[in-house]
Amino acid sequence: GKVRAPTHIISTISDDRGEEPCYAGVPMSSIIEQGYGVGDVISLLWFKRSLPRYCTKFIEICIMLCADHGPCVSGAHNTIVTARAGKDLVSSLVSGLLTIGPRFGGAIDDAARYFKDACDRNLTPYEFVEGMKKKGIRVPGIGHRIKSRDNRDKRVELLQKFARSNFPAVKYMEYAVQVETYTLSKANNLVLNVDGAIGSLFLDLLAGSGMFTKQEIDEIVQIGYLNGLFVLARSIGLIGHTFDQKRLKQPLYRHPWEDVLYTK
Ligand code: ACO
Ligand code: LMR
Repeated sequence: GKVRAPTHIISTISDDRGEEPCYAGVPMSSIIEQGYGVGDVISLLWFKRSLPRYCTKFIEICIMLCADHGPCVSGAHNTIVTARAGKDLVSSLVSGLLTIGPRFGGAIDDAARYFKDACDRNLTPYEFVEGMKKKGIRVPGIGHRIKSRDNRDKRVELLQKFARSNFPAVKYMEYAVQVETYTLSKANNLVLNVDGAIGSLFLDLLAGSGMFTKQEIDEIVQIGYLNGLFVLARSIGLIGHTFDQKRLKQPLYRHPWEDVLYTK
């Protein structure tokens, strides 16, 4: 019989050996001819399946809404400083990306994990939030440096509006909103932030689309796919900030002494 040399790599998402590359079995020509968008390409390469249009549209909305949030946020700041130090595009981009994590943009997976666990266990918002407090963990997806009860995050409202009119159910989002109502009773800035909105709504997307088994949803949440949405989205803005600084021929950045508290 045939003797097959053992392979060192297993890959299941794309194949470039034929006449044209395929993403999850779908040839490039179909992707173009059938008018697929970037949301469809993400569903093929990340989720290995074609998702319904409202799901791919939701993915695209997440990408568009998270593409940038001005020059002052951690990621853009790092990118700007790096670009001004004369570094190249990739260095400036990754310098910004490296700030994405539990406090900034990278709380989506944890928000999905904690909201799912709490909602599936029927915890009241009080039980959930106070339980987290006892463990000394800030609720991922809650809180913002500049957004508050009276200055809500428009991105969150837009995502919720889209989901309310397009998703079959928004159970996890409603749970996150109840959690927000409780946290807002504690402090004005403890709003549901964009990470929390995407995390909870993606749970609704996964559960409501009928395209994923329970086991697959658990795996997606456990591996942590969802921070990828912010990483991908914000790369667009960080690349823009790099070009902006280069275009403006900005000099090396040095932080002013006056803005540092020198102390022992
Ligand atoms: N859950 C519970 N309590 C909170 C939370 C939270 N998520 N956030 C703030 N608090 C409370 C705490 O009592 C905190 O005191 P502590 O330092 O003793 O824990 C108090 O509010 C004051 O917090 P600050 O540090 O002033 O809040 P800050 O404005 O610096 O933090 C931040 C904003 C980092 C977003 C914070 O709310 C947080 O860690 N949230 C969870 C992570 C998260 O969702 N990040 C994504 C933000 S959206 C984005 O980056 C695109
Ligand atoms: C962002 O999207 O970068 C923000 O929500 C973070 C911020 O502090 O504005």
